[in-house]
Amino acid sequence: MAEVANDQLRRIAVDIARQAGELAARRRSEGVHIAGSKSSLVDIVTLADQETEAFIRSALADVRPGDGFYGEESGAEVGTTGVTWVVDPIDGTVNYLYGLPDYNVSIAAVEGDPTPETWTALAGAVVAPALGEVYSAALGEGATLNGDPIRVTEHPELTGALIATGFGYDAAKRRRQALVLAELLLEARDIRRGGAAALDLCRVAAGKLDGYFEQGLQPWDHAAAALIAREAGARVTGFDNTPPGRLLTLAANPRLAPLLEAIVAEHSTEM
Ligand code: IPD
Repeated sequence: MAEVANDQLRRIAVDIARQAGELAARRRSEGVHIAGSKSSLVDIVTLADQETEAFIRSALADVRPGDGFYGEESGAEVGTTGVTWVVDPIDGTVNYLYGLPDYNVSIAAVEGDPTPETWTALAGAVVAPALGEVYSAALGEGATLNGDPIRVTEHPELTGALIATGFGYDAAKRRRQALVLAELLLEARDIRRGGAAALDLCRVAAGKLDGYFEQGLQPWDHAAAALIAREAGARVTGFDNTPPGRLLTLAANPRLAPLLEAIVAEHSTEM
């Protein structure tokens, strides 16, 4: 791969995610039109998802021709440079539909095969236009919120910890996810369900949550935000120190993470 500074990729991700965020917010103010549903009736895709991803795809192709692309709405295209852009045009689609501000545009640059098990995330941006929040990170260079450095909390135990989680769109999986939640509620300070996985991870990064876990995530849900959380000092993993992915994405400071993982592992079943 041609040598590109990770910070340069970060700047590209931020710039395009900001513009895409403005487009999504504008379309939101004009009204939301549902284009269809995906895995289930609750898993919707809006016309704005599709338009925003098309904008991001074309903007990236202009500045980085030859890079690969892997987006939630329009699929994958293999590149020639070794860098692939992993994109969720609107993460938190249900919030977006209901006019809640917790939605974001998430763009990551990764190196290697575009699968979370093997890729190395080089840079990422998560832009939440309705919140005025721009999170970003470059590998080895730390993470920021609106330009200021961010850091995870140092809360060391589940007691007193504020933990976020999310649920997939499949009802059978939700039943199993509820079992983990029931146990966790007995231990933690409280639970949050924000509705946008990338923002949950970024809030761990910024110390606005102590931890987050979710089972069933897709690669674009966590590509950028997992790097942001890591660069802010979080341990971000799947089970048994594997890379984060569909089976589990868990983020917290290195003392809290194994305690959170243990309770999820004890009460969860195969997703
Ligand atoms: C969803 C959100 C949600 C999470 C789901 C994701 P989408 O992404 O991140 O918080 O619980 O697992 O699929 O569909 O809004 O892009």
